[in-house]
Amino acid sequence: MSTVIAETATSGLVEIHNVHKSFGGVEVLSGIDLTVQPGEVVALLGPSGSGKSTLLRTINHLESVDRGSVTVDGELIGYELRGGRLHELHEREILRRRTQVGIVFQHFNLFPHLTALENIVEAPLALKRLGASDARELALGLLDRVGLADKADAYPRQLSGGQQQRVAIARALALKPKVLLFDEPTSALDPELVGEVLEVISDLARFGTTLIIVTHEIGFARQVADRVVFLDHGTVIEEGRPADVLDHPKHPRTREFLAKVLN
Ligand SMILES: Nc1ncnc2c1ncn2[C@@H]1O[C@H](COP(=O)(O)OP(=O)(O)O)[C@@H](O)[C@H]1O
Ligand SMILES: [Mg+2]
Repeated sequence: MSTVIAETATSGLVEIHNVHKSFGGVEVLSGIDLTVQPGEVVALLGPSGSGKSTLLRTINHLESVDRGSVTVDGELIGYELRGGRLHELHEREILRRRTQVGIVFQHFNLFPHLTALENIVEAPLALKRLGASDARELALGLLDRVGLADKADAYPRQLSGGQQQRVAIARALALKPKVLLFDEPTSALDPELVGEVLEVISDLARFGTTLIIVTHEIGFARQVADRVVFLDHGTVIEEGRPADVLDHPKHPRTREFLAKVLN
């Protein structure tokens, strides 16, 4: 689906190399290796607790790694390499690099006291990327892109879950990230609102932004993903083209997971 764009996209290369992460002595990521090409759309699947959210969070350094590295276009997000060792960067530099990687959460995480438009302009203004009128223009364009041109002045509580999630996507796009991460973007939605959000994500897939999407929507993964990656117990157990992996899973745990999700 995004293959044509993938050939023309020039930035947004994600390289995850041997990433390990433990919480309280329990290893949650056990040596993840994954390269995502510029403009590629990857669906990340796996059972609850397999480490999907943690992996996403290491990509924009909301979570540090114990071992290994994550780079976007060759640049480490949270660290710099000095004298052969990784040193965590200063907060301000982390924030700058983090803007290259947008993330959309299951529960939208909009600011409740700000309107849709104010939610979207907040980061570009705080980072002094744009002046007030340019930021407003950008936000109105993004709201239009997610089908909410008429909701600029609505507060989150006045919007449906699907509309809130579309505002959250517009907000993530406002910083023009090279990579966009979605962590179960439709799991908190009523079934009838899932489609409108998936439609917006499908649309993004066509525009050359690298997308990594954690989802249990198998039909959607099949339709938009260039590649499906299965995580289990903190390791990649199987990956490949959707048609291969979803229809002919090789690993027993992949089969078991798909059987559960599809029923
Ligand atoms: N901040 C944390 N502190 C302690 N344990 C955590 C933390 N974040 C995640 N975990 C644990 O790591 C494991 C993987 O979690 P997660 O990445 O959220 O999995 P998934 O998104 O695949 O459901 C789970 O056992 C979870 O309880
Ligand atoms: Mg999760």
